[in-house]
Amino acid sequence: MSSLNFKGYSLPRMISIVAFAGLISLSIFYYWTSIANNCAAPLPNPKQYLDNHFDKNGSSFSEDKPILLLWVWPENYRFELSDCKKFYNIDGCLLTDNRSLTSNADAILIFHKSISWDLSNLPPSPRPKFQSWIWFHVESPTNTVKIPGLENLFNLTLSYRRDADITVRLNLIAKSKPNEEFVIPKKDKLVCWIVSNNAASTGVGTRNQFYQEFSKHIEVHMFGKAYSKFLDYNEYYPTLASCKFYLSFENSIHKDYITEKLNGPLSVGTVPVVLGPPRKNYENFVPGDAFIHVNDFPDAKSLAEHLLQLDKDDEAYGRFFTWRKHLTATPHLIQQTQEFVLAICTACDYIAHHREYREFHDLYEWYFN
Ligand SMILES: *[C@@H]1O[C@H](CO)[C@@H](O)[C@H](O)[C@H]1NC(C)=O
Ligand SMILES: *[C@@H]1O[C@H](CO)[C@@H](O)[C@H](O)[C@H]1NC(C)=O
Ligand SMILES: *[C@@H]1O[C@H](CO)[C@@H](O)[C@H](O)[C@H]1NC(C)=O
Repeated sequence: MSSLNFKGYSLPRMISIVAFAGLISLSIFYYWTSIANNCAAPLPNPKQYLDNHFDKNGSSFSEDKPILLLWVWPENYRFELSDCKKFYNIDGCLLTDNRSLTSNADAILIFHKSISWDLSNLPPSPRPKFQSWIWFHVESPTNTVKIPGLENLFNLTLSYRRDADITVRLNLIAKSKPNEEFVIPKKDKLVCWIVSNNAASTGVGTRNQFYQEFSKHIEVHMFGKAYSKFLDYNEYYPTLASCKFYLSFENSIHKDYITEKLNGPLSVGTVPVVLGPPRKNYENFVPGDAFIHVNDFPDAKSLAEHLLQLDKDDEAYGRFFTWRKHLTATPHLIQQTQEFVLAICTACDYIAHHREYREFHDLYEWYFN
């Protein structure tokens, strides 16, 4: 889950920043010495500039960390603010939920679902000039309520979408030891599905329709709240791993809306059968031979027949793991209270590395179209 760009500044980037800072200081120095030869104005000393702004390891001083204020805890799921460091090695911002810091905050993270209809629980306006407000929303458009008046309030967007300013996503990461053999875990079930939400309003109609037809032709082991076979969080990964295939069916179908339902099976060595945006969209994130797309088949019956076929063909099944020579998927956090940890930490990492701001207009135009 911690993608490579979470490691903070890369060395080349750091060198170029230091070099650039040095260059600027030197230019100022030469400018002043050339036009004001005898002037005793204090000159910026490049060496001193660097000493003041960077420690010996080349990272910025902690006092310089931008402040990210979490305006409310999403769904009231609290976690330790130090978890960003613990899970993702992210600590480039000062993350706080202390509203006394409102006027000092460089950025405020505002969770869409908790904004009240009359907007009365937003941070105070006018905001300081340097402060950006981040629209924090990780649901798909189907599950998004349009609260009026938000169109021109935000400066940054935090979403699962690739075209958001801050994209929340579990990326595959390059293996440190390529070609290391991946051992497929022991399987005692063919197809599994964990369903926690089955509320029709969330757009689950498409996947339920597909499932109804599909399950006539193949046995599906069902788990989860919706089927009163609740899995404790420590049973989640072992259960996933014990199935050859897992139904990674998104609740609603939208571009880039590819969630942890895909990451779960990938991270434990189970082949995801996906239902969601088109195959091409999945291939923006994971290799094409890592999963089966329901649209690869004319109907649910032919998909079921294909899986039954693969059950008897270990060599063909093994080919779904070729990509693991070079890449690996990291298990995501699965406790309910951890649902928003990645998103919040990603925002922290972003504001640590980006100081530019902008006005964001027509939020909904962007989100719904
Ligand atoms: C600099 O790096 C050294 C060795 O990795 C470490 O012990 C030290 O705490 C670091 N200093 C700071 C200020 O991060
Ligand atoms: C919030 O910040 C203020 C100002 O820095 C401080 O006095 C106060 O103790 C903090 N509150 C909490 C709960 O940490
Ligand atoms: C952030 O957006 C608001 C609303 O559009 C705007 O008034 C403000 O100038 C923006 N702030 C920055 C720093 O760009």
